Amino acid sequence: MLLHLIFSLSVFILIDNGNAGLTSSFIRNEWPSVDIPLDNEVFAVPKGYNAPQQVHITQADYEGKAVLISWITPDKPGPSQVRYGLSEGKSEFTAEGSVTNYTFYNYTSGYIHQCFLDGLQYDRKYYYEIGDGDSARKFWFETPPKVDPDASYKFGIIGDLGQTYNSLSTLQHYMNSGAKSVLFVGDLSYADRYKYGDVGIRWDTWGRFVEQSAAYQPWIWSAGNHEIEYMPYMGEVTPFKSYLYRYPTPYQASKSISPLWYAIRRASAHIIVLSTYSPFVKYTPQWKWLREELKNVDREKTPWLIVLMHVPIYNSNVAHFMEGESMRSVFEGWFVEHKVDVIFAGHVHAYERSYRVSNIHYNVSSGDPYPIPDKAAPVYITVGDGGNQEGLASKFRDPQPDYSAFREASYGHSTLEIKNKTHALYHWNRNDDGKKVKIDSFVLHNQYWGSNHHRRKLNKNHLHSVILNRASTAQL
Ligand SMILES: [Fe+2]
Repeated sequence: MLLHLIFSLSVFILIDNGNAGLTSSFIRNEWPSVDIPLDNEVFAVPKGYNAPQQVHITQADYEGKAVLISWITPDKPGPSQVRYGLSEGKSEFTAEGSVTNYTFYNYTSGYIHQCFLDGLQYDRKYYYEIGDGDSARKFWFETPPKVDPDASYKFGIIGDLGQTYNSLSTLQHYMNSGAKSVLFVGDLSYADRYKYGDVGIRWDTWGRFVEQSAAYQPWIWSAGNHEIEYMPYMGEVTPFKSYLYRYPTPYQASKSISPLWYAIRRASAHIIVLSTYSPFVKYTPQWKWLREELKNVDREKTPWLIVLMHVPIYNSNVAHFMEGESMRSVFEGWFVEHKVDVIFAGHVHAYERSYRVSNIHYNVSSGDPYPIPDKAAPVYITVGDGGNQEGLASKFRDPQPDYSAFREASYGHSTLEIKNKTHALYHWNRNDDGKKVKIDSFVLHNQYWGSNHHRRKLNKNHLHSVILNRASTAQL
């Protein structure tokens, strides 16, 4: 415990005193950025006729008491029922879901099942079973702790994953991290790198690939450009078609009109998912929804305000430079006003972390045109480094801009371990030839409870509870 504290303090000092950004000199010895062959065991079809495959779960309500389970049966619809309960091998409850499918050019998907489990207890392990007879399959998941300002919880953050050997390394490292839920920042399968019927086939392989994690813990989805799949040359012009059929989100629970932007509360975090590739300028549905959702954030209940989006707002890589500028000009003022703690993005296939900066005073006609240090601003973190077939974005702009604290062109994933209402530990873990190496770490101080006013309130409450404790001890 003491060692942990010393580590935390030393990292905190390192980060808070830092002003010059660092560009890592590490050169990734890259595995080829090619997709794993279709016959590899990581894409294996589960045994048994019509056995459920591509099983994945996500949070299905606003508060974390419901789970949406989704899976695909290849041969016939079969049952959409989930049998579940709190003891292994004994299903106390059943829930009935629905089934659908879709076509994409000459590909017809399997039967996509979705089943909603609600009224779950917080902080429990549930066992569930899907499928028929000998082909039935068993999984489990853990519900989060009750929404509470001091609930501790560990999230993982993964982006731009794809289905290469690098993707596999990222997924395996993530699964050893002890994190309980993935905040996924867009670009899932990279199936759109294929043509015609192969697009659907590569969505299926990706579904089987991530099942090893996504069937056991919720992945909180956001969409990237590789989900758009606007492919007029084969007559496919409905944006996000495959993604929306396969990866449902609980958007209605936060009164959104689109599965592409929504919010959830989980443990002590309020998580807002935005869509880079949906209209977001003033008066659009997403803009209006975000304005209202930010009013719903109650930092007394959920101190941690986290935003996910695909395209980073602050990015000093040559790849995708300035692509986030339009969203920055629309939303950055709100992020600062509402003291967002951290914004995670993907898209750029490298890692980068910013200092707390803003550029809200520049309004084209006046103001400082450069980002400036701003204690009310979020930390911006780009983790588009899951390891897809497009490879790394290895060229950073030179010199490193003042807002960029650390950057490295490697594959990896991040974790955010919320300790209480005031502190969270953050790590970025590089995939280093099969090993997971913690590279970038810092203590994230909560933007709301870290303010002088709330710190005083916290100290007062702490003092009050100490006095009460002493009084009750004295009575014993
Ligand atoms: Fe992308």
